[in-house]
Amino acid sequence: MKFQRPKGTNDIFGKEVYRWQKLESIIRQACNDFGIEEIRTPVFEYASLFQRGVGETSDIVQKEMFCFKDRGERHYALKPEGTAGTARAYLENAIYADVQPKKLYYIIPAFRDERNQAGRFKQFHQFGVEVFGSYDSALDAEVISFVYEFLKRLNIKNVVLKLNSLGGNECRKKYNETLKSFIENKLDSLCSDCKARYEKNPLRVLDCKNPTCKENLKDAPKTIDNLDEECKNHFDSLKKYLDIMEIPYEIDSKIVRGLDYYTKTVFEFVCKSDKLGSQSTICGGGRYDNLIKECGGPNTGAVGFAIGMERILMLMEEQGILFEDENRPIIYIGSMGDKGFIKAQKIGYDLRKKGIYAEYDVVRRSVKSQLKYADKINAKYVVIIGDNEIDTGKINLKIMDESSQIEININDIEKEILK
Ligand code: HAM
Repeated sequence: MKFQRPKGTNDIFGKEVYRWQKLESIIRQACNDFGIEEIRTPVFEYASLFQRGVGETSDIVQKEMFCFKDRGERHYALKPEGTAGTARAYLENAIYADVQPKKLYYIIPAFRDERNQAGRFKQFHQFGVEVFGSYDSALDAEVISFVYEFLKRLNIKNVVLKLNSLGGNECRKKYNETLKSFIENKLDSLCSDCKARYEKNPLRVLDCKNPTCKENLKDAPKTIDNLDEECKNHFDSLKKYLDIMEIPYEIDSKIVRGLDYYTKTVFEFVCKSDKLGSQSTICGGGRYDNLIKECGGPNTGAVGFAIGMERILMLMEEQGILFEDENRPIIYIGSMGDKGFIKAQKIGYDLRKKGIYAEYDVVRRSVKSQLKYADKINAKYVVIIGDNEIDTGKINLKIMDESSQIEININDIEKEILK
């Protein structure tokens, strides 16, 4: 029997894993610079946390969670996202009693039973940030400015920040009524999901991907036109702070987000891409002032986002962006005869101690095979050490991509390469 990985999952190895490590180190550095601490929570939680946290009417909870029971018949789910688990940990460990705001970040595998597509997987990875402890729009601006700066550090081009406001508790209630009366006489032509959403959470109909629903709802009232004074001021001040920080944005009233916990600000960073097609949203987030209270905690203002790491790496590849050192030059120390074999090990080890990427023969290959191997690993420099080189103290340093070579002292390899 031939085993295969489940559809929608990936094995990450070779050059690819190097890129993941680099991305993770840029994430960690950026979080350090913004005072954001890492939090690590379990890969599975009680399923009820997501039902309560992410929301009963979201597609994630209704259709996409990987659920299982243990022998004690307890219901669990693999994390479909990182916010609910972080909020649970914030409460359970009384992190709210510590100095606020509390800025937390995570790098997690997340699991959603979605149909595979370029940029859409069943197991994917999210880098997310959750900040707890302020209702002020300055926090929304701080979180958005972080994402903007982070994407800049990665040099990703053609990214657009899209902003919207869904309003707070009071204006959402009123808006729901307005939206429901708009939908009422179109209800028969909407899909069964939308009919259920109409009852439970009408805002969700605006996120429906069904073309008939989309067409029917294209003139639906916008949340942004139905904000009360407080929510309008909150959104206006956010825009002002972003203007001051010179962070460009577009207002997009169609951004309603697929999770139920959002209040007021919602945002997405979207990038045009041939590879990702319709999955071009690399980051989604917003404010969720009710979540901590709903999970049994104190009233707590909060803002967060998550970035799909696969999508980031696919975009970087598409845009030809390399990480620092991604194509580090390799020096191959080849050898001929026993003395050369031993000397090559010593030289290789000494170069490695200096942080130079050196390889040497440990298979006792012929010189011809060693040269083939050096070519395969794309070595930029090659030397071959034999009795003659050891006796004279001189070697030829071949520079492969220039098809040239120079004679140098055997002890000067490091000096020549660093030149
Ligand atoms: P989300 O929009 O569901 O938000 O996911 C965030 C990002 O995760 C997406 O923009 C996308 O890049 C990536 N993503 C989602 N699903 C997949 C998938 N099946 N395959 C590959 N990448 C995917 C959340 O998860 C919220 N928890 C974000 C948040 C944090 N809001 C507040 N705090």
